[in-house]
Amino acid sequence: MAPMTTWASNDDGTVSDEEEAYYRQRAKEVGLVITGCTHVQPNGIGFTNEFAAYDDRFIPSLRKLAIAAKSGGAPAILQIFHAGVKTLPSLVSDVVAASAVAGEGGPFAAAIVPRALSEEDIEQVVAAFADTTRRAIAAGFDGIELHGAHGFLIQNFFSPHSNRRTDQWGGSLENRMRFPLAVVAAVKNAIADHANGPFALGYRMSVEESGDGGLAIADSLQLVTHLIEAGASYLHASLGSALDQKPAKSGGDATIVSILRDHIAGRIPLVAAGSIRTPAQAESALDMGLSLVAVGQGLVMNPDWIAHARTGRDSDIRLTISADDVVTTNIPRKLWAVIDGTPGWFNVVASMPDDVGQCTPEMKS
Ligand SMILES: Cc1cc2nc3c(=O)[nH]c(=O)nc-3n(C[C@H](O)[C@H](O)[C@H](O)COP(=O)(O)O)c2cc1C
Repeated sequence: MAPMTTWASNDDGTVSDEEEAYYRQRAKEVGLVITGCTHVQPNGIGFTNEFAAYDDRFIPSLRKLAIAAKSGGAPAILQIFHAGVKTLPSLVSDVVAASAVAGEGGPFAAAIVPRALSEEDIEQVVAAFADTTRRAIAAGFDGIELHGAHGFLIQNFFSPHSNRRTDQWGGSLENRMRFPLAVVAAVKNAIADHANGPFALGYRMSVEESGDGGLAIADSLQLVTHLIEAGASYLHASLGSALDQKPAKSGGDATIVSILRDHIAGRIPLVAAGSIRTPAQAESALDMGLSLVAVGQGLVMNPDWIAHARTGRDSDIRLTISADDVVTTNIPRKLWAVIDGTPGWFNVVASMPDDVGQCTPEMKS
């Protein structure tokens, strides 16, 4: 199960009963559950009604999620992050990032100029990732995944576009890798100090950024090397299309998955997500050398995706979603409102009546 935000926690940041039911229904037969992202500091929230993990008082709520995510027998990984420049100004007054470089905006984030973190702030964020890992262990998760993708704080530090710092945290590739690797090291220490058995440390990345001066795949491969050396348990590539996507900038015929596969050369498992909707596509992705295929929208639309695949009922797998499916698939009302209100996302064939779920401007901003 690919990591997917639900926009559906309780207003106090605890996991809601709707979220619990949503995870339980999808966790039934998958091999691994990766939860939606949770913020490690109060000002790291990326989405409205995103469940929180920045304080020990959230451990019972995290435990509720871990139990639901593991209820099908698979291990569960808590995805942790700080949204950085992509936090919502409506939720956070102090929006921070590596440098005071405006975000790009988009369907879920405003294009605002953040405050550059001080050295002391950076140490506190790094420590917050370690503290959140300790909470994940206490809550019963089997690992954490660092969300180093989608322009959030970890990628924001790695990117030559958004990181314009001139201290040890910016400038050269080595300096831009310092924050991601400091987080990995702190999380590793937390695992050594608190976990009684195996506990995974995954890392999700976007691999490259569009636009001049953005991340190139060559940078990402260097980071991958360091992540392996630092003891990451797996690499998770977030792609638009796991099967076909090629680097936008460097040309050539090789897909990003094959480039990563060859670079990693079996040293750690490689996971990728991106437009895997059918079992045949998942098999092709495994044939390309992926260790695990992450399924996102396919699993939102089809809680029984694996059961259909296992029994060869491919034609029962929905490729579109309509309001009529929302109740039987336990899609939280607020998640449906976002799905229904975001053009180009999912294949929505029939909208929900307005009085049932509505995407507010704040949810989308
Ligand atoms: C509803 C929804 C919420 C998402 N939330 C997250 C998230 O919290 N963290 C993350 O890394 N990716 C998130 N993603 C991206 C997915 O993990 C995945 O990479 C993407 O949807 C592509 O896979 P797919 O084509 O199978 O959906 C989200 C995607 C969806 C559809």
